[in-house]
This record gives sequence, C-alpha cells and structure tokens, in this order.
Amino acid sequence: MINEIKELKSKVEASLLGIKNLGELEDFKMAFLIKKGPIQALMNRMKDVPKEEKKDVGREINIMKKFAESEYKRLKEELENKESSEPTIDLSLPGRTANKGTRHPVNQIIDEMIDIFSSMGFSVAEGPEIEDGYHNFDALNFPPDHPARDMQDTFFIKDDRELVLRTHTSPVQIRMMENKKPPIRCIMPGRVYRNEAIDSTHLAEFHQIEGLYIDKDVNFAELKATMMTFAKKLYGDDLEFRFRPSFFPFTEPSAELDIKKPNSDSWMEVAGCGMVHPNVLKAGGIDPEEYTGFAFGFGIERITMLRTGIDDIRHLYENDVRILQQF
Ligand code: PHE
Repeated sequence: MINEIKELKSKVEASLLGIKNLGELEDFKMAFLIKKGPIQALMNRMKDVPKEEKKDVGREINIMKKFAESEYKRLKEELENKESSEPTIDLSLPGRTANKGTRHPVNQIIDEMIDIFSSMGFSVAEGPEIEDGYHNFDALNFPPDHPARDMQDTFFIKDDRELVLRTHTSPVQIRMMENKKPPIRCIMPGRVYRNEAIDSTHLAEFHQIEGLYIDKDVNFAELKATMMTFAKKLYGDDLEFRFRPSFFPFTEPSAELDIKKPNSDSWMEVAGCGMVHPNVLKAGGIDPEEYTGFAFGFGIERITMLRTGIDDIRHLYENDVRILQQF
C-alpha cells in the first residue's frame, strides 16, 4: 500500500510539472482530485489495511491528498492572475477597417473647379435640367433647322418638343443675363443630357461647368488667360494645352481647348469657348454695342479622366468600388 501511495504521489508530481494553463489544471483535477479518482480509491481501501499499519498508511495518504489539493489551489490562483493580466486581444492582428465612402471623383473635381474659379472672382449659379427649347436653343442663336435639335442629339420631354433635357449648360447663360445687369461673372455647373451613342469618351448623361463673363471691353485674350490660368491651377504648370478654332452658334469667334494626355501623344478636348455672339447678348437683354463677353463650357468627366488617369469615361459610373475608392 505504501508503495502504491508513493507511485501515485510521483504521478501527481509529474503531472503538476506539465501544467501550463487553467485548462490543463482542470484536467489534473479530473484525473486525481474527484471522488472517483485514484486518491479517493486508496482511501476507500483503508478499511482493509491491518490495524498496525493504519496509522502510517493513513498519514501518507493524507499527506499526498493535502499536497495535491494545495498545489491545485496554488496553481489555480497563479494561473488566474497570469491570464487576467495578459491582453485579451492579439495586438499583432491586422485591424478591421471600416469601409468609408468617398466623394465621387466627379464631385471632387466640381468642388475643386468651383474653388479655383471662385478665387478668380466667379460666383456660382444654377439652372433647370428640364429646359425649354427657347433657352436651350433659340436664345443661343441656334437656327430653327439646326441639326442639334434633331432627335439624335436631344431628349425631348413629350412630343411637342417644347421641353427638353438640357443638352448643355449654356442656357443658364441666358437665364443669368435675363436676371442680372453686367458686369456678370459666374460659373454654372450641372448635369446635361444627350441622346448619344455611348463609348469610351461619350455618355448620354454627363456634367459641364459653364462660365460667363460680361462687362465693357472684355476680349478674347482675357478668355484665353482665364482658361489657361484655370487649367494650370488644376493640372500644374507643366501642363500642355492648345486652342483650336471651332464653331458654336452662340459664340463668335469660337475655339476648343485641348489638353495633352499625360504620358501620351494624344489630346483630349475638354472645353468649348468663345466671345458671346451679339445675338445672344440681345436675347439676354444686353446691348452688344455697350458690352462684350466671353463664355466657356468644360466637360467635367473629361477633366476628371485627365486628372485620375481613368481612360474610359464609363468607368466613372459603373460604381465599382475598386475604382472609386482610389480617389
Ligand atoms: N455648350 C457648348 C457645348 O456643350 C460648350 C460651349 C460653352 C462653347 C460656352 C462655347 C461657349 O459643347
């Protein structure tokens, strides 16, 4: 019996040495300290021990039992202290990132353009997206049979052709002239619509920023200087650009502004511009003998493409977060 007790004691000691956490300590308890465990089994056999040995055997069992119990208690306290002082989070794990939305790149560019033109003295105005034929075409000196009025370019509201989704922001020029006396210096951002075949540089719904400056003796050099200053503020001083002669019914002379695409030999047309046609000033109630003015209209998606390097205009509106979250 004494030998069995010694054997069990060394087993207890050996397994105590291997305990590294509270889980293993519980295993130890289940292995030795429960009622059906080996220590209790030895105690149950005390009744069969001859009288003369009872005292010694009993003492040995008790010593072993107390030892196992007090070690259990001691380790429990020690391990509990240790585990509660250990951080419960793994600081080396990568953090969970919250998916933050961003402002759409087109809206970011609109804000930037507004900032730049504001710093140059332009105020901001807006006009309706559903426009009448008079403001969208007639007052802008489009002859009645101009091809832009054709079904191919314009979305008409109802069959009477009197209301259209505006095809450009230029009608807001007329609305400004109708409401304000010169000097007028404003930009007019907004959405425009064209019944257009969609490709990598064309959409049926896009954005423009119109600009209008009317005062005494405004000239073409000021128009060029304004557009160049704007473009350099937006793209930096080493930007390459060119003005090309062009035609619009509402400006004379007219030009288009091209900007060189970064790391490429090709150009992107970004704006139409020109001196406001005398007929347009008249339609707006302004005397062309007294005042002159210039106007321009930038295509905002194209400005955004040049800025972001996105090479297909459709990417801007597919709402693929892998693209949008880059800006
Ligand atoms: N409205 C013209 C367009 O949509 C651009 C433009 C605006 C041209 C102002 C000249 C002056 O193409």
